Amino acid sequence: MIIDTHAHYDDHAFDADREHVIAELYNKDIIAVNVGATFDSALTAFDLSQKYPHIYASIGVHPDEVGDLDEAGMSRLLGMANNEKVVAIGEIGLDYHWMVQPAEVQQKWFIRQIALAKEAGLPVNIHSREAAKDTYDIVKQENAGVNGGIVHCYSYSAEMARDYLKLGFHFGIGGTCTYKNARVVKEVVAGLPMEAIVLETDSPYLPPVPHRGERNDSRNLVYVAEAIGQIKGLTAEEVIDITYHNAKEVYPRLAV
Ligand code: NI
Repeated sequence: MIIDTHAHYDDHAFDADREHVIAELYNKDIIAVNVGATFDSALTAFDLSQKYPHIYASIGVHPDEVGDLDEAGMSRLLGMANNEKVVAIGEIGLDYHWMVQPAEVQQKWFIRQIALAKEAGLPVNIHSREAAKDTYDIVKQENAGVNGGIVHCYSYSAEMARDYLKLGFHFGIGGTCTYKNARVVKEVVAGLPMEAIVLETDSPYLPPVPHRGERNDSRNLVYVAEAIGQIKGLTAEEVIDITYHNAKEVYPRLAV
C-alpha cells in the first residue's frame, strides 16, 4: 500500500475524470491525503474524504489564499477538524515568491492556523517557498510541531532539514527528487534518516521523470520511491513500505 501525503484531487485539472482517477487509486491500493489550498478547496477536500474510503483530508489555507480569511472561517475549519477523516491542518505557511499576500498577512494567518491545529490536536502540513527563515522562526516560536507535521515539498538546505528534524518534523519528498538538476533535494534525502521521509505528489503538479510536462497523480509515486531508493540503497518496495509506516506515524488518523 502506498500513501500519498499531499495531493490536490479537488483541482480543476481533474474535473473531467476525477471519479475515474480516484477509482484507479483504489484499484492500485493507494491512499491519498487531499490537501486544501483555498478555503473552498478545504471544503472540497473534506467532501472527497467523506465520499471515498481511501481519500483523507488535510484542511487549511495556503499563504497565497489567506486574504479573505476570517474567524468565522476558522470556526468552520475547527468543526470539520473533529471528523475522523481529517488528518492534518494544511497546507499552511509562507510563500514569498509571488507575494500574492503581504508578508505580515501571511504570517498572521500562518500563526492563526498553527493555533487551529493545536486546538484540533492535529499535525500541520507546511508550505514554504522562498521564506526559509521566517517559516522556521514561526514554526519554532509557535511550537507548530507539537502534534508532528510535514514540511511539504521540502526545498531548503540539508542544514535546515536537520533543524526541522530536531523539532520532530517529517519531510514530504516528491517528483523533484527525480529531476537531474535537483542536487539539493538529493543531498537532503541522503542526509535524512529514512524514518523522517514521507512520499507526496502535490498532484496535479510536479510530475516525476519520466512524466514531466504531464498531469501528475499518485500512481506516479513509484518513480519517486525508486529515486529515493537509489539514494538510500533500498528497493522501491522497501521505500514504499517504510514511508507507509512513517505516514501513519505523522498522520495518526490514517486508519489503513
Ligand atoms: Ni500542495
